[in-house]
Amino acid sequence: MMQAVLFDLDGVITDTAKYHFQAWKRLASTLGISIDERFNERLKGVSRMDSLKRILEYGGLSNHHFTSIQLEQMAEQKNNDYKQLIQGITPKELLPGISELLTALRSKGIKIALASASKNGPFILERLKIDTFFDSVVDPAKLQKGKPDPEIFLTAAAQLGIDPKECAGIEDSVAGIESILAAGMFAVGVGVPENIGAHFRVASTTELTIDALFSHFKHR
Ligand code: BG6
Ligand code: MG
Repeated sequence: MMQAVLFDLDGVITDTAKYHFQAWKRLASTLGISIDERFNERLKGVSRMDSLKRILEYGGLSNHHFTSIQLEQMAEQKNNDYKQLIQGITPKELLPGISELLTALRSKGIKIALASASKNGPFILERLKIDTFFDSVVDPAKLQKGKPDPEIFLTAAAQLGIDPKECAGIEDSVAGIESILAAGMFAVGVGVPENIGAHFRVASTTELTIDALFSHFKHR
């Protein structure tokens, strides 16, 4: 039986993926690096510092050219821009169907957790006015490894006290689906490619109904 649903945030609950992209694009351009939406797919689900390193590598700049203080400053500059972009988020920016899904899960007694790499996660849940639905939120600052490692989803399950086999994870990124699969959970992909092994794929969050999750859920 599905006993818990573990949500990614950016690109699943709300479309903040576009704000991350805008902020990274601006930071990259100050370094003479141009990034496009295609490259941005490789940043989804990836921590702030690892995203910066991927951008530098993409632009042909080794991150060894920079001191750790310079790297921290660049990551902070991106985050300051990003925070400005998310300052005004309201519940209207919940992706379609998410509010209904959270309400239905809650009414059926299914546990709900956030498994996002974003350190801005708690702020965004509050702005969207859905923080009270969450039984648990993983603190990404305490993790050893980011997605695609399973640690974040396994930590969410452990915090809830639920066996990973009874958990479904919902993700929009390739790294995130890999993380859910490696955790031995049921993987639900939103707009993800066909060939990465998600157990249930939807094109849009409107298809994420509790009935669809229950009927597709299989034990791993
Ligand atoms: C993930 C996003 O959810 O969080 C990534 O998909 C982002 O794009 C990562 O880099 C870290 O977010 P933050 O808010 O801590 O910089
Ligand atoms: Mg995401």
